[in-house]
Amino acid sequence: MTAAAPLRFITFEGGEGAGKSTQIRHLANSLRAIGAEVVTTREPGGTPGAEQIRALLVEGGAGRWQAETEGLLHFAARAEHLAAIIRPALAAGKWVLCDRFADSTIAYQGYGQGVALDWLWTLRRHVVGDTEPGLTLMLDLPVEAGLARAETEQRYERMGLAFHRRLADGFREIAAAAPERCWLIDAARDITAIATDIRAAVTARYGIAL
Ligand SMILES: Nc1ncnc2c1ncn2[C@@H]1O[C@H](COP(=O)(O)OP(=O)(O)OP(=O)(O)O)[C@@H](O)[C@H]1O
Ligand SMILES: [Mg+2]
Repeated sequence: MTAAAPLRFITFEGGEGAGKSTQIRHLANSLRAIGAEVVTTREPGGTPGAEQIRALLVEGGAGRWQAETEGLLHFAARAEHLAAIIRPALAAGKWVLCDRFADSTIAYQGYGQGVALDWLWTLRRHVVGDTEPGLTLMLDLPVEAGLARAETEQRYERMGLAFHRRLADGFREIAAAAPERCWLIDAARDITAIATDIRAAVTARYGIAL
């Protein structure tokens, strides 16, 4: 029996300022250049209801929520996003490129804020189900460099260096445990070199030339 083909659902993960939004634009352009239909979206958010939940998460004081509440809010927004945007687009044969997804909740709320990892993985299995990304690009950058690049000064940016170091370690652990799905990308290089690596990862995973 051969493994199911990976979904054309690609997620971009990494800490603040790692270059996720920049690289998603590059990959969307490369896929469109070969005639692919591409939907780009982001989390938390992506639908009107989920964007309202996003505002609860990215605005206000760092201690605004119990960490478990915060994890549930992320998964609540994700359930809306999956149902309204991601699953319909995949069913229509489109590629979906998503700026952050479930790995961010495991990294931020689990490794960063101390929510039990097994509880988060259980929620993930229920909410995400069969819609796990086919490929996850983990943009890995020293925490200080990412925070210096980041353009906003919102709730998560204010959570302190130790928090950001824990979540960077978390992303690396998640990637090491799922080597088929996750590609760790050295994001401390120039934008073009990173985009080239990402095209190579897509070619390797999906067998399409970009
Ligand atoms: N490889 C790179 N080298 C130098 N600067 C970069 C690189 N990639 C992106 N940048 C710049 O760093 C800033 C942050 O990049 P970007 O917004 O893509 O990161 P992000 O991961 O989406 O950040 P956030 O977590 O804040 O959403 C932007 O000004 C962008 O132009
Ligand atoms: Mg961004």
